[in-house]
Amino acid sequence: METVAQKEWQGLFEKLAAEKGTVLLLGATDTGKSTLVRYMITRLVETGTPVSLVDADIGQSSLGLPGTISLQTFHTPAEVEIFRFEQLSFVGAVSPARIIPLVIEETHRMALLGKAKAEITLIDTTGLVAGELGRELKLGKIGAIGPGRLIAIERHDELRHILTSIEDIPVSILKPSPMVKVRSQEARSRYRLSKLAAYFASTREFFLSTRDVRIFYRNRPAGMMVLQALPGTLIGLNHGDETLGLGIAGELDEDSATFRTPLTSLHKINRVILGDITV
Ligand SMILES: Nc1ncnc2c1ncn2[C@@H]1O[C@H](COP(=O)(O)OP(=O)(O)O)[C@@H](O)[C@H]1O
Ligand SMILES: [Mg+2]
Repeated sequence: METVAQKEWQGLFEKLAAEKGTVLLLGATDTGKSTLVRYMITRLVETGTPVSLVDADIGQSSLGLPGTISLQTFHTPAEVEIFRFEQLSFVGAVSPARIIPLVIEETHRMALLGKAKAEITLIDTTGLVAGELGRELKLGKIGAIGPGRLIAIERHDELRHILTSIEDIPVSILKPSPMVKVRSQEARSRYRLSKLAAYFASTREFFLSTRDVRIFYRNRPAGMMVLQALPGTLIGLNHGDETLGLGIAGELDEDSATFRTPLTSLHKINRVILGDITV
């Protein structure tokens, strides 16, 4: 579907182009954050300004995969059209609720990588804004990253409990576009499955021993035992902090696991990230 630009978007585009720096988006689910981000990236690269995008929406990632924070730096409209990620960080869940510090830390790390590659970095975020959890997550990201501007898309006053704590960062407040389509839980779940199906379209089976890798669960060292309960669980195959690929766990025992992945080699893999996503 065609994106219909709101009249406020032109002024916002001019601000971003002039100010540059890091800009973080805030808004509940289905407020048009990702649509606006993509529009701004297209407009900015058209003027010859490279833009990094950090997609920190681990539930409905548009750039990356479910359960991941992803990064890409765009230089041309053609690259925006393709919209592929360059780097991934698997966090093991599609909701940030139980891994808020990890999501903040990895979003910050990706933002720094993005900043090193472009003068403008846009950060798309999850729709978790409600209550104390939403506040903790968003203020945590803002505190860690220190964006130069916030774009807040607000239906009513659902961001107020977050925005009242922001003193020294300019905030552009927008209303959601009337073109926004609200998606059901089923549609969200289908979206995740279709992304994973495309990613896992062509896989090979591999074997990993706990002797060769370190296992992490919710950002803490863990044993392969965590996996035992859950064959079919999604795993992150990492070199250090960087996720080189995802896998789907199969046969497991105490010190080894088989899994399928589209990666063609486990050469650099020294860390496996376990999570709470099963497919
Ligand atoms: N300005 C717009 N013009 C056309 N469609 C839009 C616009 N904004 C949002 N939509 C549609 O509404 C849905 C939700 O928008 P999205 O940007 O994914 O929201 P969010 O990232 O806040 O969850 C998508 O299907 C998107 O295509
Ligand atoms: Mg989105």
